[in-house]
This record gives sequence, C-alpha cells and structure tokens, in this order.
Amino acid sequence: MVQITYLGHSAVSLASQGKTLLVDPFLSGNPQASVQASDLTPDAIYLTHGHDDHVGDGISIAQRTGCLVVACFELATYCQRQGCQVHPLHIGGRRDFGWFALKLTPALHGSAKMTDPPIYTGNPTGGLITMEGKTVYHAGDTGLMADMELIGRLNDVDLALLPIGDNFTMGIDDAVEAVRMIKPKQVIPIHYNTFEPIQADPREFASKVGDLAEVTILQPGESLALA
Ligand code: NI
Ligand code: MN
Repeated sequence: MVQITYLGHSAVSLASQGKTLLVDPFLSGNPQASVQASDLTPDAIYLTHGHDDHVGDGISIAQRTGCLVVACFELATYCQRQGCQVHPLHIGGRRDFGWFALKLTPALHGSAKMTDPPIYTGNPTGGLITMEGKTVYHAGDTGLMADMELIGRLNDVDLALLPIGDNFTMGIDDAVEAVRMIKPKQVIPIHYNTFEPIQADPREFASKVGDLAEVTILQPGESLALA
C-alpha cells in the first residue's frame, strides 16, 4: 500500500514499506503546513523546480538527515553545493531507486532561485513516480500543455496531483482539461488557497471533473491510501 499524505500547497509525502519520499516540502512560512520540517525524516526528496514554495525546507531537511535529493540537473547541482546528497535527472529521464522510480516530465513554468541576481535552476519539471507498481503523477507547477495527452497515452496513471489555483499555474477549467488528457484513476488538487492570488474551490473542481476521475480533496495532514 502506498500512503499519500498532503502536507499543504504542493507538498506531499509518499510512504511505502517503511520508506518515505517527500515532494516539494514547503513547510516553514506555509500557512497551510500540517507538519514542521524538523519532524520529518524522509528517505528521499524530489524537488519539482527551484521556486521557494517548492524547494521550501528541502535543503535543510536533506542537510539534517542525509537523505537523497532528486531533481533536474541544475537544481540538483545547486543542492549539492549546499551539502546535500543528490541524484540529478533531466526531462525524459527515468531512474529506478529500488523502492521508487522517478521519471521527469516537462512542466510549463519557470524555475530559478530568486536571489539578486537570480540563480538558474534548470527546467521546471513534473514527475512520474512509481511505487509498488502504482504510478503517481505530480505535475509540479504547470500551465495546461498538450504533453499531458502523451503522459496519459504512455502511462497508466493511478493518481494525479494537479495544481488548480490559477495565477501561477492551471486554474480549475484547465486542470479539468488536464484530467481529460492524463486519464488518471484518481486526482488530488494541489497548489490552491495557500496565498491570496491562488484562491480556488476544490469542490468546484471536483464537480467539473465529474466521472472523468475520482477526486479526493485532502486537508493538510490527511492521507489517501493507494492499494
Ligand atoms: Ni513555481
Ligand atoms: Mn508554486
């Protein structure tokens, strides 16, 4: 069984057989966060892109625990220079880590650490995560893109985590179109209601998805089991 726990914003943990993969652990400064970064001891972290609301506490958690950080090459190199153990991937590439595999997909977005001047952190990504034979697509931050049709055609997606908050990513109507293309069995909406510009009603999303997929609205701290 894969246990997916929503930690707020785009942060989720995926647990399987006593191991935990953390995705985009933005907890400190996240008004939705359901846990403190210092309470987490993941075995690996996947960072979708270099924006602060995704890298979040990822580097400090990895520095403290020594866990592996997986990200696209430029962002992984940045994390390595901060003392993290890393594994770089890039879009289209898949790597089997034993207890999970990750393939990076495109995401239509930006990616940089917004210092002055900004630090380039490569392409933004989404990830196809395979665990116990289940495929979970974390879309990262992205606008609607035709590549999602290809993701749906080439993968049997059990669960899609899709941003619905608009402004920086897909809004509700585009996310419904994404469900049509990806054809996941289940969907969890993410990246909404954290901040003023990304207010969205997940129940409106669920009703517009209708019977295209089963939508589960998780409050931060709540879990869904994929069995
Ligand atoms: Ni972003
Ligand atoms: Mn974001």
